[in-house]
Amino acid sequence: MGLRIAVVKCRYAIFRASVPALITRNNNLKPQRVLVLVHESLVPPDNIAGLTMQQIDEFRTEFDVVQQLKQSGCEVRVLGLGDNLGELRSAISDWQPHITFNLLEEFQGIVSYDQHVVAFLELMRQPYTGCNPRGLMISRDKALSKQILMYHRIPTPRFAVVPKGRRFTLPRKLSFPLFVKSVAEDASVGISQASLVTDAARLKERIEFVHEQTNAAALVEEFVEGRELYVSVIGNERLQTYPVWELKFGSAAQASTGFATRKVKWDRKYQAKHGIGSRMATELPDGLAAQLGKLSKRIFKALYLTGYARLDFRLRPDGSVYVLEANANPNLAKIEDFATSAAAAGDDYPTLMKQILRLGGNYRAAWRE
Ligand SMILES: Nc1ncnc2c1ncn2[C@@H]1O[C@H](COP(=O)(O)OP(=O)(O)O)[C@@H](O)[C@H]1O
Ligand SMILES: [Mg+2]
Repeated sequence: MGLRIAVVKCRYAIFRASVPALITRNNNLKPQRVLVLVHESLVPPDNIAGLTMQQIDEFRTEFDVVQQLKQSGCEVRVLGLGDNLGELRSAISDWQPHITFNLLEEFQGIVSYDQHVVAFLELMRQPYTGCNPRGLMISRDKALSKQILMYHRIPTPRFAVVPKGRRFTLPRKLSFPLFVKSVAEDASVGISQASLVTDAARLKERIEFVHEQTNAAALVEEFVEGRELYVSVIGNERLQTYPVWELKFGSAAQASTGFATRKVKWDRKYQAKHGIGSRMATELPDGLAAQLGKLSKRIFKALYLTGYARLDFRLRPDGSVYVLEANANPNLAKIEDFATSAAAAGDDYPTLMKQILRLGGNYRAAWRE
């Protein structure tokens, strides 16, 4: 028993010693070196005066995060990563950042390779913000996520996966209307009005489209009519959820049948024309907000997420909820859902950045054990 305690204490001492103390006692950020890791095409300019909304959208998250970190007193370097991991290795060994703020969403043009870069950071014993490699890998694969969620009896639409090059016969358990998307893409890539299909011919067409456009397997899901709700979650082990957010489709869709196409999500003119936008969800059925909060924490844990994530749900008119997907490391732009829902709960942008850094600094990667 005595020996066990000694071992535990010794481990704890090593853990404490190897974790950079990023936050001072009065909860300010200590002056610290933060390496902000972005895609090479998304290195933000210092000044955005004179640029249009659409131009700024390209690097909005990167710009907002870098500006905020500087204003909070961090020493910031931005590394625009292309396909050379050597640059990351040199930046870390030469500059010795206390932490890497990870805003990378792909590597070598492959979205699922972001997890390998985070794994590399772990191998370099470099603390980082956001999700760990396992959580990234699982949540990136919508089919795998759904398999895990089903194990936990968490409601998610029934589905089938159609790998590229495979003929598809509709399983009896699935009924129209169906929704077809890529298992691996995010940000509504490949999603348009034609993603919602009501007959076998359209289904076949859309599966082929997904195969060609996204080069990944197609996920065929039962379409969930209803409202579109998002819940943002932050934490590693102890989790906090922010108020339920709702994407309103305005005049772009009839009640219950709207969904987030690429246009709905990203086309500013289209959004303005139809009054599309997201805000705090109101008039939810009694107890639903609390139920969603609990469910979101279960999903976050079931998918091994850490740091921060946003979960996408649909709420049927009968009050039942279904999770569509988990977004690890969601968009952190000040005007996007994660930050606006955090602000509604009293965590303004400086506080949010501080929290994310703190969670990154505290994440117990295996090398710290
Ligand atoms: N099974 C479904 N039922 C209803 N709408 C869906 C379904 N799957 C996706 N959608 C719509 O498509 C959007 C994008 O799908 P999602 O799975 O969240 O992928 P992405 O990673 O592109 O955000 C959702 O926000 C939702 O509006
Ligand atoms: Mg989504």
